[in-house]
Amino acid sequence: MGPRITVVGIGADGWAGVPAAVRDRVLAADVLLGGSRHLALVPPTDAVREPWPSPLLTGLDELLARHTGTVVALASGDPLVSGIGTTLIRRLGAAAVEVIPAVSSVALARARMGWSDEECDTVTLVGRDHAALRRYLTRGRKLIVLTSTGASVAPIARMLVDEGFAESRVAILGDLGGDETRRDSSARELVDATGPDLSLLCIECAGSAGYSTVPGLPDDVFDHDGQISKRPIRVAAVCALAPRPGELLWDVGAGAGSVGIEWARTDPRCRAIAIEKDPVRADRIERNAAALGVPTVRVVRGGAPEALTGLDVPDAIFVGGGGSRAGVLESCWASLRPGGRLVVHAVTLETEAVLVRWFTEHGGELGRISVEQAAPIGTFTGWQSIRPVVQWVVVKGEK
Ligand SMILES: C[S@@+](CC[C@H](N)C(=O)[O-])C[C@H]1O[C@@H](n2cnc3c(N)ncnc32)[C@H](O)[C@@H]1O
Repeated sequence: MGPRITVVGIGADGWAGVPAAVRDRVLAADVLLGGSRHLALVPPTDAVREPWPSPLLTGLDELLARHTGTVVALASGDPLVSGIGTTLIRRLGAAAVEVIPAVSSVALARARMGWSDEECDTVTLVGRDHAALRRYLTRGRKLIVLTSTGASVAPIARMLVDEGFAESRVAILGDLGGDETRRDSSARELVDATGPDLSLLCIECAGSAGYSTVPGLPDDVFDHDGQISKRPIRVAAVCALAPRPGELLWDVGAGAGSVGIEWARTDPRCRAIAIEKDPVRADRIERNAAALGVPTVRVVRGGAPEALTGLDVPDAIFVGGGGSRAGVLESCWASLRPGGRLVVHAVTLETEAVLVRWFTEHGGELGRISVEQAAPIGTFTGWQSIRPVVQWVVVKGEK
């Protein structure tokens, strides 16, 4: 069976810019699907014209069941750049969706800026929390930022100023491929600005160094009440958890959320769920995650093991506290996918005793991490120990 739906990208130059062979496909369709702006571009045909159903995904199933003929959906630019093509493929599978792209706004923006694909990052904030941009802010970085509307310019500029990037150069490119506009300014000059509705921002970050996405952020960038894995211990945890793009972490007993946040910062596709029973700490995790550019870290308010029920299957689990509580390790072990990693830290002898039992039964690596840091002794300096941590690292299915 061929594709159930063909998605055609239309550039800002409209119908005239659609290649003749693609136009013929659109004109021959039995059903045309799209936003009103796109539907209005296509000359009259016998096709049934339907706006995007709402809610989209369930409405789409119903629409495809109603129509048996050829269905063509109209989208802007490259439907797989922050577009409807991605949503359709996720719902229907790649084999059911044919994508015919036009040039994306990102390619046009790179051409106008003279930026190669290799030297810049694209960040889409369309329908997403702007806080995600913070993860990308490092000196000298080139960013192409897609936004939902021109009203996003001012809050993004304010974020740049607040984060120490006021002198960044920002080009607002409007209606690329059509009646183009361009405004070049510093972030500082844009704190009250609006852009054209169809616009994106090209930002050359200047100012502060920003934070690395390699784990090991300073403790004081997290708001915390002392319940935080100290930097050297946290680094040992995240590295043992070994995040890969797209993987999901459960951070059980998350405290300030630092392990889940550092996991999520390693790659924008990494996901983390922080499980925290103290409501004040749970709120703090959300604030820390937004401040460090990973607002997608999900906070589950509740205690383990009860609060773990029904969560998506994790690729890795970190238990930073509460490892001796009845049922916590059992639940974590049962929930972990085969081949997934479990990392447990113990600071109390009670949890340590539990880890020794689990290590004997399941194998893995059991170690003790002792760290000393230089600290003042009166007017002199001496070594001060951080509380030693027993770390158990195990891969499920490997003994
Ligand atoms: C949902 S995304 C769709 C991107 C589209 N699939 C593409 O390939 O360009 C919509 C956002 O992309 C950016 N955008 C799309 N077309 C644009 C254009 N012609 N000029 C400037 N920005 C554009 C804007 O930031 C807009 O809000």
